[in-house]
Amino acid sequence: MPKLINRIGVFTSGGDAPGMNACLRAVVRSAHEYSIAVTGILRGYEGMIEGEFSDLDARSVSNILQKGGTILKTARSDRFRTVEGRALAADNVRKHGIDALIGIGGDGTLRGASIFSREHDIPVICCPGTIDNDLFGTDQTIGFDTAINTAIDNIDRIRDTADAHDRLFLVEVMGRDAGFIALHCGIGGGAELVLIPETIQTMDEVKTCILDTMTLQSRSSIVIVAEGDELGGATQIADALKEDDRFAGIELRVCILGHTQRGGSPSASDRVLASRLGKAAVDSLVQGHRNVMVGIVNNRIRLTPSKDVWIHKKSINFDLLKLVELIR
Ligand code: F6P
Repeated sequence: MPKLINRIGVFTSGGDAPGMNACLRAVVRSAHEYSIAVTGILRGYEGMIEGEFSDLDARSVSNILQKGGTILKTARSDRFRTVEGRALAADNVRKHGIDALIGIGGDGTLRGASIFSREHDIPVICCPGTIDNDLFGTDQTIGFDTAINTAIDNIDRIRDTADAHDRLFLVEVMGRDAGFIALHCGIGGGAELVLIPETIQTMDEVKTCILDTMTLQSRSSIVIVAEGDELGGATQIADALKEDDRFAGIELRVCILGHTQRGGSPSASDRVLASRLGKAAVDSLVQGHRNVMVGIVNNRIRLTPSKDVWIHKKSINFDLLKLVELIR
């Protein structure tokens, strides 16, 4: 018989992602339905260590569904990587009468949750919240849809000016060491080439491909570069192209979309995903599940042990990469 859950602590951690607030709202209101009290923990694991706790009732999450960022604030905590830091956090959690935690974040959050729950026997359920979409155990993470829509909106604008000047643009998108954002932006933004860390290409291959598309079509060209690509970021690749005489007649510009991709009001799809996952996290705790990530696979809720999420690497759909080449 699993221990009764009377109070949940909820936190957001790592890089913020649009939809985190929608997820938090669903957690608080679903817990309310079960008469479970909720404590908000500010600034992720850092606030857990510092004892930054504040009670949340059903109304305290009103009017946040549509907001980007996270009202709980977030942080990347170096101290939580240490045994001493996690012990302080566990003391605070117990002091506040919290029986279980729900964390909303990416792979660092999952990793921390998995170690912490084993070390201190405090159940932690995670909701996948990261724009990178790089978490095994869910088709999509909270924030990914908004981030690619924001990026594609910007790529459309870049296309206008690139086309007007017949220029080559290297557009760098986020994703850390994964290429999901780049790949989706490549298709949605009609890019001529997408460079992602999951595929190895030499600089010569990249140059030939760009030259082929530009001379074939003699117009603008957009190359999407994932920030984690093995050839480097957009600036490094641009520098390599400029050194090659064959690029002498081509006007080249770099645009790094950066943190614009992290902000903004969540898309409808992210709001729905976040709300479903927030509720599923509370349901799974009540049903006695421990130390899992709630995800959605083929439109159904799927629970994956937290440690499996960061041990397994989510793979890219290579058909999508072929699609970029086919329809460019
Ligand atoms: O994990 C989300 C993410 O936005 C990555 O795409 C990016 O590499 C990283 O966070 C940037 O982190 P920070 O905002 O801490 O610089």
